[in-house]
Amino acid sequence: MPVDTSPLIDSYGRIHTNLRISVTDRCNIRCFYCMPEEGVKFVPRDEILSFEEIERFARIAVSLGIDKLRVTGGEPLVRRDLPVLIRRLAAIPGIHDLALTTNGVMLAELAEPLYQAGLRRLNVHLDTLDRQRFRQISRRDDLEKVLEGIAVAKRLGFGPIKLNAVAVKNLVEPDIVPLARFGREHGFEVRFIEFMPLDAQQLWDRGKVLLAGDIIDLLSREIAPLIPIPDTDPRAPALEYRFADGVGQVGFIASVSRPFCLNCNRLRLTADGKLRNCLFAIEEDDVKRMLRGGAPDAEIAALIRRNVAGKWEGHEINTSRFVAPPRPMYSIGG
Ligand code: 5AD
Ligand code: SF4
Repeated sequence: MPVDTSPLIDSYGRIHTNLRISVTDRCNIRCFYCMPEEGVKFVPRDEILSFEEIERFARIAVSLGIDKLRVTGGEPLVRRDLPVLIRRLAAIPGIHDLALTTNGVMLAELAEPLYQAGLRRLNVHLDTLDRQRFRQISRRDDLEKVLEGIAVAKRLGFGPIKLNAVAVKNLVEPDIVPLARFGREHGFEVRFIEFMPLDAQQLWDRGKVLLAGDIIDLLSREIAPLIPIPDTDPRAPALEYRFADGVGQVGFIASVSRPFCLNCNRLRLTADGKLRNCLFAIEEDDVKRMLRGGAPDAEIAALIRRNVAGKWEGHEINTSRFVAPPRPMYSIGG
């Protein structure tokens, strides 16, 4: 049979080049917009894909045109020996971009081995610079560790380092300006992510989303006017703005107020080996069963093609038809 080298394309013409790999559903903190405070049911370890399985899947995906990988969790740094996996992923020919999203709690210890393994791009989750508020949001007292992790990563030469903050209304308003100032001072892009209905406790409602437009108004008033940066990559979800005084930029993932589904080029592999074509997908394909059942590469490639081909037009957060996915964020991989 001739090898099918056509791009991974769905029925809306979106070409998929971006794979997000969750390496664990566990986490060492408990951000309320993602996890419940107690009693989280984690996937048993033998249900989690091994490094060999992840690497094999990634290689097959790359043969279909995936050239961008992001490693996520849960919290990926709690996965033992993560730098070993990073090195293996970085070595796959055809990967042009490898990045990691972390909460930063263990970054001070792991930044160096990760750098040596070939990682350069980091997104660190940081909602606040205030210790008390960090505790309130994440139910852990780890702000100092995160700030240290960010400092170590910067010193080692990681770049770009982006800081992710979830925008929750009537909660994080006092953090917006200090975070943006911190980013300006250190050369980090702060990205505000509109609170999405992916929390484990179903706390989300529209009224709790702090919208990108409101943050733009606030920053323009308090710091300097924000000027949109023309889209260099129309498939990147963030809307980028620069400060008019020439110092720094911020980004917005406006999933609720400005959904970017029409440009989406992402696929997701969960830690327990399920393939999802959308953060909000209800259905998923069981890759692990194939990986463990002796399926040849061609069969797994065909599954990836089918999964992409069946992708819906987009999430329907803004309609009454919206159904939250059965998995919360930590078990999908952000
Ligand atoms: N809404 C928006 N973003 C979220 N994240 C986690 N839960 C939510 C949510 N309910 C983000 C965090 C993390 C990334 C992986 O996902 O910012 O950095
Ligand atoms: Fe952990 Fe990230 Fe979820 Fe926070 S958002 S609880 S850091 S997985």
